[in-house]
Amino acid sequence: MKLWGGRFTKEENQLVHEFNESLSFDRRLYRQDIEGSIAHVTMLAKQGIVTEEDRDAIIGGLKGILADIENGTLKFTKEHEDIHSFVEANLTERIGEPGKRLHTGRSRNDQVALDMKMYCREQAEEIAGLVKELEQVLLTTMEENLETYMPGFTHMQKAQPVTLAHHVGAYFEMFERDRSRLQDIVKRMNYCPLGAGALAGTTYPLDRGYTAELLGFSGPTLNSMDSVADRDYVIELLSALSTIAMHLSRFSEEIIIWNSNEYQFVEIDDAYSTGSSIMPQKKNPDIAELVRGKTGRVYGALVAILTTMKGIPLAYNKDMQEDKELTFDAIDTVKNCLKLFAGMMSTMSFRKDVMEQSARHGFTNATDAADYLVNHGVPFRDAHGIVGQLVLYCIDKGIALDDMTLAEFRAISPVFQEDVYEAISMKTCVEKRMTLGAPGPEVMRKVIEECRRRLDS
Ligand code: ARG
Repeated sequence: MKLWGGRFTKEENQLVHEFNESLSFDRRLYRQDIEGSIAHVTMLAKQGIVTEEDRDAIIGGLKGILADIENGTLKFTKEHEDIHSFVEANLTERIGEPGKRLHTGRSRNDQVALDMKMYCREQAEEIAGLVKELEQVLLTTMEENLETYMPGFTHMQKAQPVTLAHHVGAYFEMFERDRSRLQDIVKRMNYCPLGAGALAGTTYPLDRGYTAELLGFSGPTLNSMDSVADRDYVIELLSALSTIAMHLSRFSEEIIIWNSNEYQFVEIDDAYSTGSSIMPQKKNPDIAELVRGKTGRVYGALVAILTTMKGIPLAYNKDMQEDKELTFDAIDTVKNCLKLFAGMMSTMSFRKDVMEQSARHGFTNATDAADYLVNHGVPFRDAHGIVGQLVLYCIDKGIALDDMTLAEFRAISPVFQEDVYEAISMKTCVEKRMTLGAPGPEVMRKVIEECRRRLDS
């Protein structure tokens, strides 16, 4: 059944129908489509374009369709082209004549833009909620690990000691930005395209401000051609999702490394691991690997829609129907990744002893040994050279800086005194890093308070 059969004399070719249809995936927009129609007809009646009786019949019919889709009695059947045709055809089947008046002053072009915008808006808010839940998990880990020492890395080489709270706190910051990005794009997309018609508005005296208000928008859009041709909101959402996926992927990569036999910093809970069909000893970090792997398809969605949009002249063109499947897939994927990652993090155990041992080796306190010399009057460049010699000496003997005797220290530089041990101890190395944003527990505690405040506000 076609909305546009009037002008046509031949039946549609079956393959054409299948290629053209979108009901198989845009059925997901049924609720937005019905809510949009209810607002539209409410406005039509307010403006005297349809009667109040027709309005009531249409709203009653639409609510019936909504209920029947949700309770499963109304099935999506293949003959309809898209969700808009499906709802309208059903409405007319149910209530007769008045159903045919619903589409007055409207086109599927502004209708689909509205549905997709409302869906993106809702999903952005839901995903921001999931990011927040993950942040709660991270914040708890931070609070519990202010003094869990571990090596901080640059170039994958042990660099300076940090704490687990500090390392996890870096991801907290990333997810905070992700959350604010989602809130920010919702603000920008929140203008209602309904009333743009096919592309040039309509001659009916619509009240666009009223429908915008009924549907919770900040106001109506200001150019009818842009309203039906704009998919920036899809691109911005997919871009925000790509950044979330990238952050999850980096974190997953670290978890995979930390969970490896060589590191053993963490143990992923059995519930979030899988075994091998051949090697009985294996417990694999599949969830982290899949989260890392799925990043590719989220980026793919972004690149696909950017590419689709780049050659589309104004205003609506059917290419834009391609925005849906990939957006839906990226949304589903990121939501699942966020939920699973949060679950994996909240059940993972941290092997604090192994982390601390690892921080003790690899000369993560070499900078602090140099700082010790500087504090005793040695210029930093000279101090750097002296500690370089200490490190060479230790590598040769297979020991850590802390294992050297005072005589050995003094053989390389007589500036060293008994208090050097205290100065280069792990505890001192971390505690002395008190600049805002550094791992020192005292300052970290303040940062955590601020993080809590941000989550609660
Ligand atoms: N299924 C279409 C889409 O998703 C709806 C808009 C159809 N408009 C049109 N003029 N054919 O883009």
